[in-house]
Amino acid sequence: AFDVELARSAMTLHVPAGKTILETMRDNGLTVASSCEQGACGTCLTGVIEGEVDHQDVYLNKTEKASNTCIMTCVSRAKGERLVLDI
Ligand code: FES
Repeated sequence: AFDVELARSAMTLHVPAGKTILETMRDNGLTVASSCEQGACGTCLTGVIEGEVDHQDVYLNKTEKASNTCIMTCVSRAKGERLVLDI
């Protein structure tokens, strides 16, 4: 489990082990676009401002993953205790 701070929405959400960031955002009333929800299509791409991403998708390439500047919120998670997203 980890926390996600949504910089533009001025909200911090707790993401439990069994839920995705995308699900957690929806549970909290946010409207977020998605399609495949399997880390393949790119629809849920979100900017990362702070924190290290545990990439679980097959959409971003190696370089993009290493840049730690974006995340697919339908499958990927935080490596640490907190992420700050540009949403
Ligand atoms: Fe398709 Fe996240 S919804 S990659």
